[in-house]
Amino acid sequence: MDHTDDYFGEHIAATYDDPASEMFQSDAIDPAVAFLAELAGAGRALELGIGTGRIALPLAARGVPVHGIDLSRAMVERLRAKPGGETIGVSIGDFATTEVDGTFSLAYLVFNTIMNLTTQEAQVACFRNVAAHLAPGGVFVIEVMVPELRKLPPGQNAVPFHVGASRLGFDTYDVATQSMSSHHVKIVDGHGEYTEIPFRYVWPAELDLMAQLAGLRPRERWEGWAREPFTSESGRHVSVWEKPAD
Ligand SMILES: C[S@@+](CC[C@H](N)C(=O)[O-])C[C@H]1O[C@@H](n2cnc3c(N)ncnc32)[C@H](O)[C@@H]1O
Repeated sequence: MDHTDDYFGEHIAATYDDPASEMFQSDAIDPAVAFLAELAGAGRALELGIGTGRIALPLAARGVPVHGIDLSRAMVERLRAKPGGETIGVSIGDFATTEVDGTFSLAYLVFNTIMNLTTQEAQVACFRNVAAHLAPGGVFVIEVMVPELRKLPPGQNAVPFHVGASRLGFDTYDVATQSMSSHHVKIVDGHGEYTEIPFRYVWPAELDLMAQLAGLRPRERWEGWAREPFTSESGRHVSVWEKPAD
């Protein structure tokens, strides 16, 4: 079993679609889908790490043909079980290397999922794989956090992102290697269940360089899907690179 299958296996897939979570609110989904639909135009879209179809299903409902890549059969089974899920083709494999038939006007990788590739080599391979699947003039969109190193005083390596009676969450950073882990503790009846997911954090400028290595050029960078300006205080970014038309 691949590691990502471990991290997004049955135990995560069973509770991934949480209607109460911020990422499942229409405020989070609708602007992303509108942004992606506009960029896809009349072409096809490729979602890397399609998961349970949080973004792919509403995008397909707007008339954009979507194909997905994902390593986790458990996540994809949830997509399949939803209305419209049967219309979306999914290739099971690693999105850094998996080849899919045809070309796309849009490829996208949201919700910090580029960081699931835990080496620089794999992240570079992902850009190259995307570039090979884009039609001339096609675009690649990434939504990812800005690494929170400014929250780390010397000697500290953990940044809490949720502290509550039923859930604790914190990220740990290793600034020497750019490796990072998200730690989650779910508390039920006073007992905690612990999960850790490894990541490789990556800077906007480093992503630009990966794009350049893959023959893509920068087109847009925003703080969010509603095209809010990206500034030195932004905690995340939505970046778009394009494959030259010539
Ligand atoms: C955080 S979920 C995001 C799912 C969906 N894109 C969304 O926005 O809800 C990350 C997804 O990426 C998949 N994934 C992570 N690394 C992957 C890899 N290297 N190749 C293929 N899929 C991967 C996981 O199995 C999981 O379904």
